[in-house]
Amino acid sequence: MSDSTTFPAFRIHATEKPYRAGIEQMRVDELSPGEVVIKVAYSSVNYKDALAGTGKGKILREPVLNGGIDVAGYVVASTDAQFKEGDQVLCTGCGLSETRDGGYAAYARLESKWTIPLPTGLTLRESMVLGTAGFTAALSLYRMQQNGQSPELGPVVVTGASGGVGSLAIDILTRAGFEAHAISGKIEHFDDLIALGAKQCISRKDLYWGQRPLENAHWAGAIDNVGGDMLSGLTRVIKPYGNIASCGLAAAPELQTTVMPFIIRGVSLLGIASAGTARAIRDEIWAHLGSDWKPSHLQRIATREVGLDALAPVFDTMLAGDSFGRTLVKL
Ligand SMILES: NC(=O)c1ccc[n+]([C@@H]2O[C@H](COP(=O)([O-])OP(=O)(O)OC[C@H]3O[C@@H](n4cnc5c(N)ncnc54)[C@H](OP(=O)(O)O)[C@@H]3O)[C@@H](O)[C@H]2O)c1
Repeated sequence: MSDSTTFPAFRIHATEKPYRAGIEQMRVDELSPGEVVIKVAYSSVNYKDALAGTGKGKILREPVLNGGIDVAGYVVASTDAQFKEGDQVLCTGCGLSETRDGGYAAYARLESKWTIPLPTGLTLRESMVLGTAGFTAALSLYRMQQNGQSPELGPVVVTGASGGVGSLAIDILTRAGFEAHAISGKIEHFDDLIALGAKQCISRKDLYWGQRPLENAHWAGAIDNVGGDMLSGLTRVIKPYGNIASCGLAAAPELQTTVMPFIIRGVSLLGIASAGTARAIRDEIWAHLGSDWKPSHLQRIATREVGLDALAPVFDTMLAGDSFGRTLVKL
């Protein structure tokens, strides 16, 4: 590999009209600056990638970037002595496909301060089945535990359960000794969710919790990927001193609630922002993901593996809310 090596990249032109994204050839010296050049082995598809790749959400803060908020591969050159050729590393979030070129390319250039040595216990492929989705699910549990969530308090419910964050959250909660319940719009996938560890599956379409500020409390905690009415409803049905980790907005960004769950039941609403997580916490979470929180069903959760040329239909399926589990991108 030299600076003039050319390679394929899924490049997004965010300011062009119409919005344009697709495979182009580029050179290593055209990549965003950084200390560590890697040959990409895998990336993955997250909801944010689908928004960025289609222009349905404003994700890029630069006019043109390679897509892909996750990346894992082999170091081919480094100006930081911490990394040497052949090292296996990963990076999730940290500006990828937002302020700098992401993982949908044969090469990526990373900032060493955000480059994570592949955790013991994971392969590069497994690290990308996890990717931002697994990291976010684990960060949710981490923050809930820091705020007193324990298995003894009772079951934790996961919304958007069949999605990437959701399916991994079910598996990780179960690994960590919690009883996980699933709320999903996909009745046809209830058996899969039970196979991942869910002890109860509830159809999203049949949910009705009442409209009082406090309703009968069902769960000790929640990991919410959906936002909107779902999150509003959750605030009314979480048990005293339970935590709700707010991860996503697959349905809506709005939240209508009252202070009653917070001041009468002591419920906590925890914000989960994976992209900007501090390095020390990142390291801790990746260590968990390779050991005591490593999902038992990564192979089952990795439902699809595609190349750069097949990203567009994956984005569409995801934005329609129709995907199950995780899609890997193999370079
Ligand atoms: N905070 C962070 O750092 C962070 C990190 C990663 C992701 N996220 C967010 O978390 C959410 C999930 O991400 P993901 O990558 O797991 O996406 P995903 O794989 O597409 O999963 C989203 C799931 O949400 C449910 N859903 C979709 N549309 C819905 C609707 N209109 N109403 C209710 N439920 C709906 C579906 O599950 P069911 O059919 O099973 O209900 C869908 O599979 C996204 O909003 C994403 O932006 C946030």
